[in-house]
Amino acid sequence: MMRNLLRPICLFTATLFMGASLAFATDSFAAEKNPLKPRVPADQRRAAKKMKNPIAFNKESVAKGKALFEGKGTCFNCHGKSGKGDGPAGKVLNPSPRDFSNCKFHKKRKDGELFWVIKNGSPGTGMVPLIPSAITEEEAWTLIHYERAFCKKWAKKLKKLK
Ligand code: HEC
Repeated sequence: MMRNLLRPICLFTATLFMGASLAFATDSFAAEKNPLKPRVPADQRRAAKKMKNPIAFNKESVAKGKALFEGKGTCFNCHGKSGKGDGPAGKVLNPSPRDFSNCKFHKKRKDGELFWVIKNGSPGTGMVPLIPSAITEEEAWTLIHYERAFCKKWAKKLKKLK
């Protein structure tokens, strides 16, 4: 008797939970993990910061970066075409992909630190190592310029360049 009574209640609860998690997946975004905290492990950070981007920041390299971001690199899937972390796959990730329009984030990071994450990934997040599986090292340096340009300050700098 008790069993028969409990069953529908359990079913009802299960349905409620499923509905809630579906709503979560489609309607709301997870938060970013603090973007101002470094991602490169302390023992490798100095070396990473010293790495120089071998490619110049200019309209040509940024245009190449955009083509990679929205094409071969598949970055837009998570980071979104807007660069805000709202791509179709990014919406369901927790923590959320980096919002590249955040100038405070760019100020905190050297190119070499971004390169390190593209190459090694950010453990415990959806950001997996993408060199050499998706892109080459040179393409990563080019992509970094495009990601910088999502920040208004860098976009202004770019406008003034030839
Ligand atoms: C499968 C989803 C996914 C794809 C595809 C992806 N990213 Fe990410 N990316 C993330 C997530 C999630 C984070 C946030 C990681 C964190 O908070 O530590 C992130 C963070 C980053 C960061 C910030 C690193 C830092 O120092 O905080 C850079 C740079 C980056 N991605 C570059 C790229 C580039 C370039 C591509 C394409 C070649 C790419 N990502 C493709 C999910 C993705």
